[in-house]
Formats: sequence, structure tokens, C-alpha cells
Amino acid sequence: MGDLQLSFLRARGLMPSHTLLDVGCGAGRFAVRVVPYLDVGRYFGIDLSPTLLDSARDELRAIGQLERLGAHALTTTADFTPHPDTPPIDIAIAQSVFTHLPLDAFGRCLAALAPRMSPGGRFFATFFVAPEGAGATRHEPGGAVTYPDADPFHFTVDAILEQGRTSQWSPEWIGGWNHPRDQQMCMLTARA
Ligand SMILES: C[S@@+](CC[C@H](N)C(=O)[O-])C[C@H]1O[C@@H](n2cnc3c(N)ncnc32)[C@H](O)[C@@H]1O
Repeated sequence: MGDLQLSFLRARGLMPSHTLLDVGCGAGRFAVRVVPYLDVGRYFGIDLSPTLLDSARDELRAIGQLERLGAHALTTTADFTPHPDTPPIDIAIAQSVFTHLPLDAFGRCLAALAPRMSPGGRFFATFFVAPEGAGATRHEPGGAVTYPDADPFHFTVDAILEQGRTSQWSPEWIGGWNHPRDQQMCMLTARA
């Protein structure tokens, strides 16, 4: 998954000089791939779980990359708020985060990130998608079964875009990005 995220974001313009925010970074699956690519001090990860952030530190230490992080690079948050010292964010990604949360969490995340983005900064977020009214839905590839009202969640594309269309963000549907379990991608651009 780390390699897939890195190749996807590089194809979408991620540069080593960019400041990147990994929303719900977990145990560092993406960090171990993207920290070596980014300039020193450009990676920031936020997560609800201090234990998972400790695991991410261990993973980065094991590959000799921990010292490439700046201060407050891995911080705990319950409300998607980056550390106050985080520079303006050029690219943010939330992979497999909103697949586990009700859709209003996406709205709260957008509100928290909007003031922290560079002008024109972009936020990429993955979702399971199912048609309006769908109950338990099996996704291929991967065989994941998702629900409209329980974890793992699915939503309609319209509902995701509606949640993303605010005075601070312009959403755009990307869809498939070769995710092995059929998660699909939404891109949101911060309005200047
Ligand atoms: C399925 S994991 C995905 C981790 C990582 N993005 C990856 O692809 O390996 C979902 C992550 O979202 C985090 N998370 C859930 N709610 C959150 C919140 N409100 N704020 C920040 N992180 C949250 C969880 O702790 C977990 O690490």
C-alpha cells in the first residue's frame, strides 16, 4: 500500500520539496516509503492512536529514516488537527481512514485541514463506493463487504462530493487507482 500511494501521488505531482500530511497514518505503511522520497522534515503523520504512532517510529528507525523527520512529525489527534508547528500542507492523503468512519468525519477533517493547506494544496481521500440504497455490498477485487451504516462504510459518490463541496474545498472524483480492495479516490483542492 505504501508503494501504491507513493506512485499515485508522484503521478499527481508530489515532489520531494512538498510538505505532506498523512492523515490516519497508522503504523507507518506509507511513511516508510515516502519519508525516503521527501526532503528532510517534509513528512507529517497524524493519528488517533499513540500506540500506532510508536509503531510507525519503530518502522522508520528500523530502516534508518527516523532522523529524517522534523519536530512534531508524528502527532496524536482525535479531530484531524495537525500540530500547530506543521508548515502549510501541499499534499495530504487519507488512505483507508474514511472507510472506517461515518461520512461526517470526512467533513470534520476537511474543516480541520482547510486552514492548514497551501493555496491550491490537494487532499486525496479513499472511500468504498456503493449505489444509493445499497445494503451490505461485496467489493472486488479483495472481497471486502461494506455497509451504509457500519464499519467498513460505503457511500455514494454524490454524498462524498456533496460533503467535500464547501467554501474552502473543490472536490473532484478520481475513482479507481489500482487499490487492491476496490477503494476509490476523491481529490479535493484547497481554494485560494
Ligand atoms: C485502517 S487504518 C489506515 C492506516 C494507514 N492510512 C494505512 O493505509 O496503513 C485507519 C487509521 O485511521 C486512524 N484514525 C481513526 N480515526 C481517526 C481520527 N479521528 N483522527 C486521526 N486518525 C484516525 C486509526 O487510528 C488508524 O490508524
